[in-house]
Amino acid sequence: MTTQLFQRFTLALCAVLLVGTSAAYAEDSKPHLANVMILATGGTIAGTGASSTTTVGYTAATVGVERLIAAVPELAKVASVKGEQVFQIASENMNNDYWLVLAKRVNVLLARADVDGIVITHGTDTLEETAYFLDLVVKSRKPVVLVGAMRPSTALSADGPINLYNAVLLAASADAVGKGVLVAMNDQIHAARDVTKTNTSTLDSFKTTELGLLGYIQGSKPFFYRTSSRKHTAEAEFDISNLATLPQVDIVYGYANMGPVALDAFVAAGAKGIIHAGVGDGSLASRVTPALISAHKKGVVIVRASRVGQGIVARNGEANDDELDFVVSDTLNAQKARILLMLALTKTSNTKDIQRMFYLY
Ligand code: SIN
Repeated sequence: MTTQLFQRFTLALCAVLLVGTSAAYAEDSKPHLANVMILATGGTIAGTGASSTTTVGYTAATVGVERLIAAVPELAKVASVKGEQVFQIASENMNNDYWLVLAKRVNVLLARADVDGIVITHGTDTLEETAYFLDLVVKSRKPVVLVGAMRPSTALSADGPINLYNAVLLAASADAVGKGVLVAMNDQIHAARDVTKTNTSTLDSFKTTELGLLGYIQGSKPFFYRTSSRKHTAEAEFDISNLATLPQVDIVYGYANMGPVALDAFVAAGAKGIIHAGVGDGSLASRVTPALISAHKKGVVIVRASRVGQGIVARNGEANDDELDFVVSDTLNAQKARILLMLALTKTSNTKDIQRMFYLY
């Protein structure tokens, strides 16, 4: 090679190296987007109405996950998103079997290195229950966020797209790691254990009334102010990986003139546990107490909850729980107490141990 040729070759090599280095630099400087899976289960967020003003009387669970994602192109800016249709139901039809399928799928996905977080789109009617079930059985600290909508996708000012956007950026956020299963609705972040649906139809239906929401989502950023002090997800003791069913637990609702008919029917139908959502501080009507005692004698675990919606059900307050061998629900509402009791019964029927769980989770 002549000297001239050698110089040209060296210059060309330097140019190639320079271009390569700057391309690599540009690649590195691109922000890394978290991989978020969206698992769709139906609900109003996937609902359609006859017109843009139809906000009641619409059909839930008609729009598929790919269309939900396509409706929010902004998602691509905050995460690398993939969708999966797990089922397509109105959430009044949610049941234990669906929960087991969903929870197993969530655990499989979160065990993968290429999944950083999960969003679950869900009907709002039982969203809080699915959220709490997952809070107790997901075996990961990675974010899991449930989201729904109060208005169908075809409505004027539908809340689904912004709620989905917020949920995805929350699931993609390092700030959400280790916080347990979260609910993102109406620009707010709630803990699965404490949030509840409080209004049949308004956009601000989801509230954590007295214990307080965890934070807000504003300007495409989650802001956290508190965390739940109760154990959840990776720290919880429940394992559903080998379960095909959950024990039957039913709820009896307290009211003036209450009798034992519903309770007796649940026990006859094979209930292993009963949540008694009593009036006030979980009070027991004297017409119902003998039926509860008789159910307990048959091995049914009785949990005293309250229909009031806020506050602690005091152990040995309105009933002598030590003597009756009953459990109290602490601050869990009846529908969430049912979930914890089902999971508790997969491990033990010892009421002292079950009471421990009610004060821990
Ligand atoms: C449902 O829960 O599936 C219907 C109601 C809703 O999503 O708001």
